[in-house]
Amino acid sequence: MRSKINNAIINVDLEGCTLCKACITDCVAGLFYIESDTLHVVDEFEELCILCGHCVAVCPVDVIKLKNFEIKSPDDIYKTEDMPNFKSLYNLVLKRRSIRQFKDTPVPKELIEKLLDLARFSPTGSNTENVYYTVIKDKDTVAKISNYITIKVKRLAETLEDPKGRESIKARMSKEEFNLAIENLPKTKNILRTIESGVDFWCWEGELIFIHGDLTIGGISTNSAIAAAHIMLAAEALGLGTCSLGYLTFHANQSETIKKIINLPKNHEVGYALTIGYPKVKYKRVPSRRPLRVQWF
Ligand SMILES: Cc1cc2nc3c(=O)[nH]c(=O)nc-3n(C[C@H](O)[C@H](O)[C@H](O)COP(=O)(O)O)c2cc1C
Ligand code: SF4
Ligand code: SF4
Repeated sequence: MRSKINNAIINVDLEGCTLCKACITDCVAGLFYIESDTLHVVDEFEELCILCGHCVAVCPVDVIKLKNFEIKSPDDIYKTEDMPNFKSLYNLVLKRRSIRQFKDTPVPKELIEKLLDLARFSPTGSNTENVYYTVIKDKDTVAKISNYITIKVKRLAETLEDPKGRESIKARMSKEEFNLAIENLPKTKNILRTIESGVDFWCWEGELIFIHGDLTIGGISTNSAIAAAHIMLAAEALGLGTCSLGYLTFHANQSETIKKIINLPKNHEVGYALTIGYPKVKYKRVPSRRPLRVQWF
């Protein structure tokens, strides 16, 4: 009789196993089964395990080990007195605002590291964990990125306003892209006026967090957005302010220059970009939001 399950990924001490079936019920990939009163794993285990760690977390007698896998001590994590209750979490969510005015004080690297370390535990589709970060703390680099986007947008607006230029762009863009560019022209011109008045419309003169991942794996936008949501809430809890930067995300993916500035790995796309810093603005009220729209069946 075997005393262990042992492969490149997992080690189970079968002598301690009580056959409670908790791992069988909880494994999303259905990799455990019981036969002849012994726990087994399927032959394809090494290909199919997504390293989500649920089996390790659920086993009541702690006999499942995943190799090279960090486990947080339950004593540190599961104490109810250390958990935010619904009210404190709700208040945090309502208190968070998009911050577009920052103090000059730099954010200590340790605080950003703390936020990114927290975001490692945010969910990813099939536990692909295909999320990478690039942090730009250097304000000159932030200004360089913003100026670059402004030049691109200005050039596009000028070309769209010129009848000949408009025709040449029409020939190069898809119909949808062209219509959108025309429709957005008044908004674009207003943004350019704001920028001319000295406002950093693209990055708000904050530090930047780019969240990115390998295009060939998929799910980057969603996984990055979820990581960003965790970061934004946690930043609020640390007294920091953040703002999602959809324009920057778009331009970063369009521009080889920005990709070069942020040293974006080849085959990566930016899923989300955030600006972060110490808020120079305090909100005294929570803006109202639309009523909940939900269907129940
Ligand atoms: C996907 C996404 C992209 C966004 N892009 C930008 C942006 O490029 N620039 C900006 O100033 N705000 C951006 N925002 C912030 C929204 O404008 C803001 O969340 C919304 O107005 C609600 O305000 P609140 O975040 O303070 O509740 C973005 C938000 C999301 C979710
Ligand atoms: S890590 Fe996840 S997928 Fe792999 S065996 Fe454990 S529960 Fe199943
Ligand atoms: S959860 Fe632990 S004790 Fe229960 S069957 Fe799986 S390995 Fe055995």
